[in-house]
Amino acid sequence: MSMRIVVMLMFGGLSAGAARHARLVPLAQPVAQETELPDARTRSLVREVCAACHGLDGVSVSEGIPHLAGQRTLYLERQLNAFKSGGRKHDFMSVIAARLEPSDMTPLARYFSEKGPLPSAEAKSPRLPQFARTNATLPVDFPKGFTRYNTSEDRGLKSIMFAWANDAAWNSARAKETDLPVGSIVVSENWRARVDDKGAVLLDAQGRMIPERLQSYGVIAKGQGWGDGIHELLRNGDWNYAVYNAERKRDIETNLAICFVCHQTRASEQYLFTRSKLAAAARGQ
Ligand code: HEC
Ligand code: HEC
Repeated sequence: MSMRIVVMLMFGGLSAGAARHARLVPLAQPVAQETELPDARTRSLVREVCAACHGLDGVSVSEGIPHLAGQRTLYLERQLNAFKSGGRKHDFMSVIAARLEPSDMTPLARYFSEKGPLPSAEAKSPRLPQFARTNATLPVDFPKGFTRYNTSEDRGLKSIMFAWANDAAWNSARAKETDLPVGSIVVSENWRARVDDKGAVLLDAQGRMIPERLQSYGVIAKGQGWGDGIHELLRNGDWNYAVYNAERKRDIETNLAICFVCHQTRASEQYLFTRSKLAAAARGQ
């Protein structure tokens, strides 16, 4: 799955029906036996990382994420090694496996394998609370106090993203500070582009795609201690994430773990994909 497609899925691709349906699934709260998790490292990986998507017992939290319970140990171990070596690629798993030690693979594979039998396709685990709640918010008076610093277009997905920085982030970038300060908020405004009746993307006189319908907002915000309680393998410093729909209602269904996985690859850029764009725009003013 390409990054773009995943981003699309997260920002407006989810139908309201599917989202509502996911909520109706009874939320069982499985409790792993201490004895089944031999060492502290495996224990914390399972409970605070893998469980975010595959569930504590290897029953995944949503469609598109495979159940691990009851799969063969050797198969799971090989997949983890393949994600790490690059033989198998996936936006999330490649990032996660890259940060696992070779010695993590066997105990993780064994743990999930022994959680069998294989669950039914519809079975679901709850999301981890730390990836359901968030401190990040879209200010009610957005875009007041924000500067729009970047536009990215995706002709294939027919989508446009405007990136906005609040004054704290903007002024810091302008002062050429390396670290964005606590209080920084960066918002992505995600639009569907205008198309003609054959579905082809229309362009304005300057050759730019034309925003037609607002789909959603993504929010990245930094606060003191906001990264506490998030496993070091997923943590993005003190940044938190949120998703809002076009009516500015917070989307409470999203598994925010995915935001952490992708944006963590940008750790050296303050977890932002458009950090250099922000710096250039702020300095240019
Ligand atoms: C952010 C969500 C996320 C997290 C966290 C995550 N995974 Fe995954 N995992 C996925 C997705 C999505 C796939 C399917 C990949 C694909 O389609 O190729 C996957 C696939 C796998 C597979 C291959 C399964 C198969 O049927 O082929 C293994 C093994 C696996 N994950 C293990 C782990 C382990 C162990 C952890 C914790 C260290 C972990 N994952 C954490 C999302 C996640
Ligand atoms: C599959 C990887 C991926 C996932 C998952 C993801 N993002 Fe991003 N995000 C990106 C990429 C790539 C960009 C830059 C897009 C561009 O400029 O075209 C981006 C840009 C952004 C921006 C604009 C600031 C910046 O970093 O450049 C915000 C805000 C944002 N994402 C929020 C979120 C939130 C909230 C989530 C979780 C719901 C999320 N993202 C999940 C890849 C991802």
